[in-house]
Amino acid sequence: MTARAGVVVVGGGQAGHSVVSALRGAGHDGPVTVLADERHLPYQRPPLSKKAHTDPDGIQVALVPESFYRERDIELRLGDRVAALDTAAQAVVTESGTRVPYDHLVLATGARNRALPVPGADVPGVHALRSLDDAVAIGKALGTAGNVVVVGGGFIGLELAQVAAAVGAQVTVVELAGRLLSRAVSPQLQEHLRQRHERGGVRILTGTAVRAIEGTGRVERVVTDREVLTADLVVYGIGAAPRDELAREAGLAVDDGVIVDEQLCSITDARISAVGDCARHPHPHAAGLVRLESVQNATDQGTLVGRRIAGSPAPYRSLPWFWSDQGAVKLQIAGLRTDTDEVLVVPGDSPERLAAYSFRAGRLVAVETLNWPAEHLAARRLLERTAPVFRSDLTGSTLGALARARRSVE
Ligand code: APR
Repeated sequence: MTARAGVVVVGGGQAGHSVVSALRGAGHDGPVTVLADERHLPYQRPPLSKKAHTDPDGIQVALVPESFYRERDIELRLGDRVAALDTAAQAVVTESGTRVPYDHLVLATGARNRALPVPGADVPGVHALRSLDDAVAIGKALGTAGNVVVVGGGFIGLELAQVAAAVGAQVTVVELAGRLLSRAVSPQLQEHLRQRHERGGVRILTGTAVRAIEGTGRVERVVTDREVLTADLVVYGIGAAPRDELAREAGLAVDDGVIVDEQLCSITDARISAVGDCARHPHPHAAGLVRLESVQNATDQGTLVGRRIAGSPAPYRSLPWFWSDQGAVKLQIAGLRTDTDEVLVVPGDSPERLAAYSFRAGRLVAVETLNWPAEHLAARRLLERTAPVFRSDLTGSTLGALARARRSVE
């Protein structure tokens, strides 16, 4: 007798967990299997770059205890990597050689770090951060590191730079682009954040290329095109790429992510969905297809697909939001900044607080805030509604005040 097909989820991260949690939450009672290559229970990634140094061996990040899956009859197969999809036969094939049949397949395979393309990137003492195991290794290394070089001035790099500074290391960030955070943050806040990091004692070299990493048996130096930096720990965060190769090899439409429709179904095969970092999808806040790397996106997309399979379909429309903790600075972003043509910087009621409103043709589409959670929440409330906020609505008013005023007339 062959195994009973059901829902099979490839990937045991935040997105995969959200699919199965929503499936059972919505009353789906067919077989559900999660195939995950990591051996850890599904866990949260955001704390890894923010807290690993505080307790490397005891870091608690599991989303739910193992009993959650057992009690819901979810088969969680950890350490079981999928090697291929057989879409004609509706089965996945694992590296251990098992075939797992599916009625519906969900790809929640996430992203992988871009590798640092320089000689010496594999010398002991050079780390990237994505997994819990990476975080534990970095946390332990931080215990003895005196000189830390961070390659990449994006979210991961700047969070880790502050973590290293907090344990007393001398920290230098080496960023290839002319500015920090150039992928996702407005130029106004890029400059502001640079000053804050520098005031906190982190040295920042922008427009600087790493040529090589050197050391005998362990990292000792980072050679850049400007100077040679002493280092006993190097961490790099230079961006991520979707893990979409299973889909590509199976002939599904893929272009920097598995291409899905607004229900998050593959445009090639309606029995396959993709969610989280590995999916490229339409979004009402974007002109074309987007691929978003955030917990919000992973959770909301996983939940949407779980509910759809359980019988309640809906298009994906969640407002994107994101946060990054960089030492004393909490950066929060609501909306998508792509194709914006104007930025208005608004000081908060204390020197650490700042907001930047981004407009597309006069309409507010994204809001970045520093240490101002109330303004971030007001931005989310306003951007989630269909009534637009225009530049002219915002003269002398914070979003908090505007959200309150609009609520009182509703
Ligand atoms: N040397 C130095 N810097 C580089 C190099 C290089 N060879 N290549 C790229 N960079 C820089 C980019 O210019 C960018 O500023 O690395 C930075 C990468 O930043 P992000 O794109 O924010 O990626 P990363 O910090 O690795 O974060 C990866 O984790 O928190 C999540 O949402 C985040 O999905 C993202 C992921």
